[in-house]
Formats: sequence, C-alpha cells, structure tokens
Amino acid sequence: MRKSFVLSALAGAVLLGAGGLAQAKLAGDPVAGEKIYNQQCVSCHGAEVFTRPDRRAKSQQDILIFAQQNCNRALKQPLSMKDLENVATYINNRYYKYAK
Ligand code: HEC
Repeated sequence: MRKSFVLSALAGAVLLGAGGLAQAKLAGDPVAGEKIYNQQCVSCHGAEVFTRPDRRAKSQQDILIFAQQNCNRALKQPLSMKDLENVATYINNRYYKYAK
C-alpha cells in the first residue's frame, strides 16, 4: 500500500516536471539575464545571430534549448538552468520578441 503511494507520487512529480519543461513561456529575470549576456555571451557573438533572417530559434523554448545545448558547453563555467533561463528571457524580450 505504502509503496504504491510512493510510486504514484513519484510518477506525479515526473509528470509535473515534464509539464514544466513543455510549457513554452520563459519566466526568467531579464535584468539578471542582461548581465550574464554581457559577461558570458558576447565574446563569441553579438545580437546579429538573434536577428539574422535565417535564425535558428523559432520560439522562447528554442532560445533556451539552443543556448543550453550549444553555447553553454563552450563556456568555461557553464551556466545553471536558472541563469540560462534569465539570459534567454533577456534575449527574447530584447531581440526575438516571441510571444511563446
Ligand atoms: C564559444 C562561442 C559562443 C559562446 C560563448 C556563446 N555562443 Fe551562442 N552561438 C555561438 C555560435 C557559433 C552560434 C551560431 C550557430 C549557428 O550559426 O547555427 C550561436 C548561436 C546562438 C543562438 C541561436 C541564434 C539563432 O540562430 O536563433 C542563441 C540563442 C545563442 N547563441 C545564445 C547564447 C547565449 C545566451 C550565450 C551566453 C550564455 C551564448 N550564446 C554564448 C557561439 C557561442
């Protein structure tokens, strides 16, 4: 009895976690994100990659995923998920302006 309760609670947590990821909107802090951007990102590229006509990120979530899976690996000290969300929020608010 007890065991199955624990299992279903776990399953619920996994579902909630997946739901959080699937949710498209970024809720980072753009002010913190701007600082991170100026310190960590501009060594390789400026905003031109965010505004080019064939830009790769097509949604808020894409921005975050691109930064996490490509750019973050190149950093000497990789950013936390929270900082990545902050910086993605800043970039979206300022350049991409995706609603979701
Ligand atoms: C080591 C170099 C490097 C660093 C540091 C770097 N990037 Fe990038 N980033 C790139 C390159 C190269 C591209 C372009 C890849 C391409 O042409 O597809 C890119 C592209 C991107 C894109 C996609 C642009 C598009 O086409 O929509 C985003 C978003 C992005 N970077 C975010 C960041 C953020 C946020 C940071 C700082 C945390 C960062 N990058 C730091 C190398 C870097």
